[in-house]
Amino acid sequence: MALEAAFFLGQFLRSPTTTGAIMPSSRYLAAAVAAPIPERGDPVVVELGAGTGPFTAEIQRRLAGRGRHIAIEINPRLADRLARRHPEVELVVDDAARLPRLLAERGIPAADVIVSGLPWAAFSATVQSRLLDAVLRVMRPDGAFTTFSYAHARPLTTAIRFRRRLHAAFEEVVPSRTIWRNLPPAFVYHARRPRPAPTG
Ligand SMILES: C[S@@+](CC[C@H](N)C(=O)[O-])C[C@H]1O[C@@H](n2cnc3c(N)ncnc32)[C@H](O)[C@@H]1O
Repeated sequence: MALEAAFFLGQFLRSPTTTGAIMPSSRYLAAAVAAPIPERGDPVVVELGAGTGPFTAEIQRRLAGRGRHIAIEINPRLADRLARRHPEVELVVDDAARLPRLLAERGIPAADVIVSGLPWAAFSATVQSRLLDAVLRVMRPDGAFTTFSYAHARPLTTAIRFRRRLHAAFEEVVPSRTIWRNLPPAFVYHARRPRPAPTG
């Protein structure tokens, strides 16, 4: 565990804005982000920014062999570690902004649940828009999107901008209580009912 934390910290030091965290998320945060995965059926679950896999493990536990689990991670070093730990997951080493094409290439028309581990508050306005557009393009109208934010980052301009975008994109955005058993403490946004894209 300490080795994994040191490895993750090394990735943060190499690329702070892409990694966006100094250590992997806790299993308590993982349980909160994965909560919308339905208990029955064969859902398509897409995970963005899987890192070393705390959300991956919880998604796998909930799916228990059902449906499909596509994990997307841009950092090949993190992806390599994830692939060794979770060979059962369909891992794609690529930019989550390419999500529509990545799913189409795998014959997947839409996702039921999208679980994001992306560091939205570390992204520029352009990158936030590009990634959120990609999510909206592949999400089923009755699907769920969950993502997390660090509690201390709540007042940051970039975090406020992301929250506004989220509310503009979804009819329902419900923040969770603060999850203290995560370093740093965090909370989750549960978003549903994507608004139709403006036409004309
Ligand atoms: C805050 S870390 C979270 C990692 C893991 N989900 C966790 O909770 O411990 C963000 C992760 O998103 C990845 N990432 C950042 N930008 C990305 C992008 N455009 N596409 C895919 N992955 C990305 C980073 O490499 C990093 O692994």
